[in-house]
Amino acid sequence: MSYGPRFKASAPSNIALVKYWGKLAGHQQVAANSSLSMTLSSCEAVTTCRVATEHSGDHIVTFSGERVTRDHKDGRKIFAHLDRMAALADTDSPRPFEVDTYNTFPTSAGIASSAAGLAALTIAAAAALKNTACWQELAEQGFGRPVLADLARLGSGSAGRSVLGGYVKWHSGEPTAGAPRQKIESLWSADHWPLCDTIAVLSGNEKAVSSTDAHREVWTSPLFDLRLATLPHTLRVIETAIAERDIAALGEAIEQEAVNMHAVSMTAKRPITFPSDRSFALMAAIKRWRQKDGLKVYFTLDAGENVHIIHEPDQLAGLLERLRGFAGVIDTLCDKIGEGPRLEAL
Ligand code: PMV
Repeated sequence: MSYGPRFKASAPSNIALVKYWGKLAGHQQVAANSSLSMTLSSCEAVTTCRVATEHSGDHIVTFSGERVTRDHKDGRKIFAHLDRMAALADTDSPRPFEVDTYNTFPTSAGIASSAAGLAALTIAAAAALKNTACWQELAEQGFGRPVLADLARLGSGSAGRSVLGGYVKWHSGEPTAGAPRQKIESLWSADHWPLCDTIAVLSGNEKAVSSTDAHREVWTSPLFDLRLATLPHTLRVIETAIAERDIAALGEAIEQEAVNMHAVSMTAKRPITFPSDRSFALMAAIKRWRQKDGLKVYFTLDAGENVHIIHEPDQLAGLLERLRGFAGVIDTLCDKIGEGPRLEAL
């Protein structure tokens, strides 16, 4: 098989401050609620991609050095997304891609690996199809950031937010003929407020329930409608706190929002508990460090047991000192808000 030029996209993961939790039935990856995240900088997926010059054969995918297939658990989402991207080629019939991808952080442990992975895949595949690593040229050829974000969202909901940098909002709403896309926009760039996300890794294990399954299940919680009703207020509080760079207001609101999301999951018909005993112990310790020691650090958790600790840069040393002595923390990843994906031709 012969291929065109190779392109490399690096896309960071993101941490949701207001979680996307539950999707609308009958639509593809349309969120039940608007969400807001900060795009990280060093926890990222690095993906190289080229497209075949011929129209035959299947995609070839290597994930962390190992070949994955269509029916492999890590391969399904990737192949489905590559099919979607291949169908966007200007040619009559799709051409297969060759993809090599890896994450710079542990996969499926509460750090949004599919967000980073599907964002990087979307960008690298678009670059390969259009044979350019120039964002401007991509936009001129129909792959501007809003389009790339919306395509990545189809691969994995939260991936749409990873296509943009800084503080990113994904507006929910049923797509209509007039507005077929979901609006995903960066509200502030990273330099507006350079917050840190220090991730306490409590386990490198894969989570027991995928977020895809959880999105379906959470509707069965009696708390779900209440969550939807209160989220517009939560979003306003969080957006105001970011605008005013008010860490106490932001921190209290994101902790409450994370607990709210997990309360909904834990009260579903088939209850899902992502935080472990170690997560709950660390969440309590974080509150203690704040109240007793004046440390300005706040937690949030995605669909995993690891705890993301959000803070301003001057709190890092004090936080790391405490995490070092905390039972159950097997690793600490120091990340911060970043400007979003990078793209280059190889
Ligand atoms: O993109 P998904 O389907 O992996 O869902 C992500 C869900 C959370 O990470 C828990 C929240 C979010 O908004 O990122």
